[in-house]
Amino acid sequence: MRQHKVQGQRNVHPHLDTFKMFCGGKKSYFAATVCIVTLTSMVTLSYLRLQRPSYLPKIIYEVSKCKGKITNSTITPLTDNRTFIISPYFDNREDKVIRVIGIVHHEDVKQLFCWFCCQPDGKIYVSKATIDVHSDRFGFPYGAADIVCLEPESCDPTHVSIHQSPLGNIDQLPSFEIKNRKAEPFPVDFTVCISAMFGHYNNVLQFIQSMEMYKILGVQKVVIYKNNCSHLMEKVLRFYMEEGTVEIIPWPVNSHLKVSSEWHFMHDGTHIGYYGQITALNDCIYRNMQRSKFVVLNDADEIILPLKHPDWKTMMSSLQEQNPGTAVFLFENHIFPESVSTPMFNISSWNTVPGVNILNHVHREPDRKDVINPKKMIVDPRKVVQTSVHSVLQAYGNSVNVPMDVALVYHCRMPLQGNLPRESLIRDTTLWRYNSSLIMNVNKVLYQTVL
Ligand SMILES: *[C@@H]1O[C@H](CO)[C@@H](O)[C@H](O)[C@H]1NC(C)=O
Ligand SMILES: *[C@@H]1O[C@H](CO)[C@@H](O)[C@H](O)[C@H]1NC(C)=O
Ligand SMILES: *[C@@H]1O[C@H](CO)[C@@H](O)[C@H](O)[C@H]1NC(C)=O
Ligand SMILES: *[C@@H]1O[C@H](CO)[C@@H](O)[C@H](O)[C@H]1NC(C)=O
Ligand SMILES: *[C@@H]1O[C@H](CO)[C@@H](O)[C@H](O)[C@H]1NC(C)=O
Repeated sequence: MRQHKVQGQRNVHPHLDTFKMFCGGKKSYFAATVCIVTLTSMVTLSYLRLQRPSYLPKIIYEVSKCKGKITNSTITPLTDNRTFIISPYFDNREDKVIRVIGIVHHEDVKQLFCWFCCQPDGKIYVSKATIDVHSDRFGFPYGAADIVCLEPESCDPTHVSIHQSPLGNIDQLPSFEIKNRKAEPFPVDFTVCISAMFGHYNNVLQFIQSMEMYKILGVQKVVIYKNNCSHLMEKVLRFYMEEGTVEIIPWPVNSHLKVSSEWHFMHDGTHIGYYGQITALNDCIYRNMQRSKFVVLNDADEIILPLKHPDWKTMMSSLQEQNPGTAVFLFENHIFPESVSTPMFNISSWNTVPGVNILNHVHREPDRKDVINPKKMIVDPRKVVQTSVHSVLQAYGNSVNVPMDVALVYHCRMPLQGNLPRESLIRDTTLWRYNSSLIMNVNKVLYQTVL
């Protein structure tokens, strides 16, 4: 293996000689001014030339064969222990770049380099990454980051390694497969992303009902970033994986960082908010960019319920027609408290299943003065660059608020306005429209899993 010196450290001094040669003896102020201006621009140009190439991929050496250790884990720490790689994605929407979704310490990680090994000639290219820590860090020291590198013009690398230095041995670095290289026809209309299932999750009945509602509404795929759940939930997830609906992304973020179950920093020594939810959501968008027409970002206890359309496909066609070029559709969240029940559908066989029966919760809390209801989103993933939880941070297209008479987010959970009497809540039985197919489908799953 031949290792050459890294380029980009060319000499600036020749310009000084130029200065002496042309400006040396002249005494006039005019000439001096011209010379100073010229010198300044020369130095600036040299400086720019020095800076710029570092972002361009450069061959540093050649190997006979690309043989980095291919990593399959979803969260891979680099040796600095401050950078965690989730996955690289090809992105040619502007420049031809590799966008690596990761988690970084917002101050400690100052520079990173992408290492590409180009087959078949074994040329190793290194390019300096721009590190874009997402602005929605909410005070935590670690946050979601885009680590973006220009890729070599001359090859379409299949793998990339990330390293703190432009020097080193690529064979020792973990190598990550670059996803989204090939454009594919969309096999799927709707993919739901459920970020961070954690804390011995055991709300089995509500989970199955949500899954069956998503399917009734037109979902073919549900991606779950799974940190931790109960044995019973494991069994249910296995059923949905075998059915082909669920894809599990293992999400052991707490093996690397101290996670908070709050979304904002509580000065409690934790490293990252809400089990790294924001990183999971961004990864989910890129992971499904090539394979799903729409990506739906909501939690397992939330269902976007259409009011004018029977399903999401007809609703989205209509919304897209009215809002051409829109990247993001925002739906208002409404709380249907678990504590207020309307036992219309008593299904005795469901009583032994842990979790909430959403069919019994059809009263929603009224809007509060001075409180803006948070939104959940259906996005065109190809138009999104960076997402947060309730809005996108960067997109090629605008965001549209979907009015309440078109759809709302049915969110069945503990009340936010627990002191309100039942009469102050709004009875909203939209969910019951689906009662017969929902009950039938849930029973089918229960009999094959937990019952
Ligand atoms: C990684 O995934 C590839 C393809 O799915 C598989 O062939 C390989 O054995 C996996 N490697 C490890 C270490 O799990
Ligand atoms: C990396 O960080 C983890 C969690 O903060 C810690 O347990 C571990 O000791 C660190 N490893 C090194 C090599 O610093
Ligand atoms: C999930 O969390 C529970 C307690 O919260 C713990 O006992 C269990 O070991 C965890 N399971 C896994 C697979 O990490
Ligand atoms: C359901 O059960 C509750 C009490 O368990 C009862 O008050 C209610 O009338 C039942 N509803 C129906 C439709 O059977
Ligand atoms: C349940 O669904 C059936 C058939 O779709 C419908 O006729 C019935 O009105 C629904 N029940 C309620 C309480 O809404």
